[in-house]
Amino acid sequence: MNVAGRPTRTIWPDADGVAVGIIDQTSLPHALSNVRLENLDDAARAIRDMLVRGAPLIGATAAWGMWLALRSEAGDTALERAHATLLATRPTAVNLRWALDRMYARLAPLPPAERPAEARVLAAAICDEDVALNRAIGAAGLPLLAALAARKPAGQPLNILTHCNAGWLATVDIGTATAPIYAAHDSGLPVHVWVDETRPRNQGASLTAWELLNHGVPHTVIADNAGGHLMQHGHVDLVITGTDRVTAAGDVCNKIGTYLKALAARDNDVPFYVATPSPSIDWRIRDGRREIPIEERSATEVARITGRLASGEVATVDLLPAGSPASNPAFDVTPARLVTGLITERGVCAANSSDLATLFPEQAAGRAIG
Ligand code: MRU
Repeated sequence: MNVAGRPTRTIWPDADGVAVGIIDQTSLPHALSNVRLENLDDAARAIRDMLVRGAPLIGATAAWGMWLALRSEAGDTALERAHATLLATRPTAVNLRWALDRMYARLAPLPPAERPAEARVLAAAICDEDVALNRAIGAAGLPLLAALAARKPAGQPLNILTHCNAGWLATVDIGTATAPIYAAHDSGLPVHVWVDETRPRNQGASLTAWELLNHGVPHTVIADNAGGHLMQHGHVDLVITGTDRVTAAGDVCNKIGTYLKALAARDNDVPFYVATPSPSIDWRIRDGRREIPIEERSATEVARITGRLASGEVATVDLLPAGSPASNPAFDVTPARLVTGLITERGVCAANSSDLATLFPEQAAGRAIG
């Protein structure tokens, strides 16, 4: 995407060849600042503390983290330590394991001296592939949006509701849920996006709004609780979210609150689509509610909020009465029955095991599909 008119990715190898650059997403939308990752601990901290976040970008950062680790030590023990350290950073997005296992499988058979160079090549390839997958999701989703837009009175924009940030900032570029939106907007189809603020970390209000604004896409930020009301009154034509993990049977794990949007969408006959790149599909499992680990984050994220004061200073303030406990499950699971379709890089399919297996036969073979 363009930032201040310049094509920009969310992660890149620094020009000096010894570090990786990222956008510090905890500073947005009030400041755009970059951070340099120089070693394994930097990469692990960036994921754990959510300087980078979003399932595909977590995977890409972990891949670069393997390279950073192997630059200083490339023996078997160091390789295993890098894999384990990065895998422990966040539990829910399956893209993390996907990227790390792919790096490990390629690097482990090599002599240690060859591992750093190969790690760099593969990390760069994983990033380029992510961009290609997202572009393909955009192409697959565009006809869907065009068909829904054709049913609207002339001149009215297609109203799309999205939750959290499954945009450019959650990936290496373009985004997943935003890919069809950007494709539609860029092709001249009028779209308008309802952006769920996405408490408690406000990825919608802070990140999705910022990137849509930068790209010139009409949008409106809403409180998380407004979606059902807007659907009841015909103001939402479809929902598109991203995902952190889709099971082989089509259950969708995504940012907390997604399930409520899916329930409201079903009650109001609003199509509910999930943009799903194949690295987000966990072919080993079927039952999302029982089998996907849900990250429990700090209660502080619920108890406090950060924003910019009238003075321009960015400050964090307390929201709760001192002493009130808070709980912070970060993701939920939307059962496949509530999902209208998955928008993958190979096309749109129903959220069920047979349609997923038809689209990805090489993945489904021999896995959990029953
Ligand atoms: O906790 P986060 O900000 O990493 O959660 C991000 C989401 O839930 C996204 O919707 C999901 O990762 C899909 S990103 C393309």
